[in-house]
Amino acid sequence: MVRPACGSCQEQELTPAAAVPPAHEPVLLDEVVDLASRGPHRVVLDCTVGLGGHAQALLERLPDIETYVGIDRDPEALEQARARLSRFGDRLRTRQTTFDRSIDALDELGIGAVQFVLVDLGVSSFQLETGRRGFSFRLQGPLDMRMDPRDPDTAADLIRRLGPDDLARLLRDRGEVECAERLARALHDQRLTLRTTTDLARLVAEATPARVKARLKIHPATKVFMALRSAVNQEPEILERALPRLIDRLAPGGRIVVISFHSLEDRIAKRIFRGAATGCVCPPVFPVCNCGKRPTLGLVDRRPIKPSDPEVAGNPRSRSARMRAAIRL
Ligand SMILES: C[S@@+](CC[C@H](N)C(=O)[O-])C[C@H]1O[C@@H](n2cnc3c(N)ncnc32)[C@H](O)[C@@H]1O
Repeated sequence: MVRPACGSCQEQELTPAAAVPPAHEPVLLDEVVDLASRGPHRVVLDCTVGLGGHAQALLERLPDIETYVGIDRDPEALEQARARLSRFGDRLRTRQTTFDRSIDALDELGIGAVQFVLVDLGVSSFQLETGRRGFSFRLQGPLDMRMDPRDPDTAADLIRRLGPDDLARLLRDRGEVECAERLARALHDQRLTLRTTTDLARLVAEATPARVKARLKIHPATKVFMALRSAVNQEPEILERALPRLIDRLAPGGRIVVISFHSLEDRIAKRIFRGAATGCVCPPVFPVCNCGKRPTLGLVDRRPIKPSDPEVAGNPRSRSARMRAAIRL
C-alpha cells in the first residue's frame, strides 16, 4: 500500500491498476476545521467535496452546521462522498457541477448566503489512482484526464487538435515545463500513435534531454500531466471565474478557504483575495477618493498556510499544499 494521495503531484509510488484506490487523506484538515469553527458556520459550501474527507470531519466536529452543500464535477467521487456521508442525513446536500456554478446550485437548493466556503483544488487519490481515468503516468490507462466524463475533450483530443506552438504554450503556461517547445514537437509528431498514459510518459522521458533529467527531482512527465490536466479541466479558468462569485455569496464574518497544489492556482487566489481586501485604488495625488472601492474581505494571513512537518511526513503529497483564507467584511 502507498500513502493516501492528494493534490496535483504524482511523485509517489502508486498502487497497481487493479488494486482498490486508498482512502483520500484530506490536507490541512485541522486548520480547515479550526478556521470554520472560529466564524459562523451554519451553512457550509464545499466546492470540491471529493471523497468527503473534509466534509466528514467538519460535520462531525461542528454540530452547528445545519446545511452542508457538497459540490463536485466528478460523478464517481460524488457517489462515494454520498455513501460515506449518508449518516448525516439531510444536513448534507450534493450537486454535480463545476464550482463556478455553485451559486446556481445554491439558488436551486433555495439557499441564500453561506458562512463557510471550502475550495480544495486538484485531484483526489481515487481519481489519481484509478488507471482508467487517465490521470497518472504510472498507471496504464486511456489519455483521458477529464474529471467529468461528460466533458467533450480528453487529453488525447487536445494533443491531436493543437499545433506545436499551442501545445508548447500549454506546457509552459500551465505546467512550467522545461523544454516545452521540444516536448510539444515530440507530442505533435506522435499525436496519432499516442494512446495511453504510459505511452505519453515514455515519450516525454525519451524526449527530455539527459541534462534536464539529471537535474529534475521528479519524473519528467509529472509537469506535462499536470499541464494537460489543467487544460482538459480548465482548472485555473474556473477558479478565476468562481472566486469573486463565492466571495459575493459569503455572509458577513463568513470565511473562505482555498487549498491549492499548483503555483498558478495559488497566485490566482492570492491576487483575488488581495484585490477584494483592498479599499480605495485612486492615485495618491487625488485629494479625495473617487473610486468608491471598499474592501469586502479581510485576509486571515498575508502568507499562505502550509502543512506542518508531521503532516508532510505522514502524507508526503500534502507538501505542495498552500492554503489561503479570508473573512467577509
Ligand atoms: C483534492 S480533491 C478534494 C478532496 C476532499 N476535500 C476530501 O477531503 O475528500 C479535489 C476534488 O475537486 C474536484 N474538482 C476539481 N475541480 C473542480 C471544479 N472546477 N468543480 C467541481 N469540482 C472540482 C475533483 O473532482 C476532486 O474530487
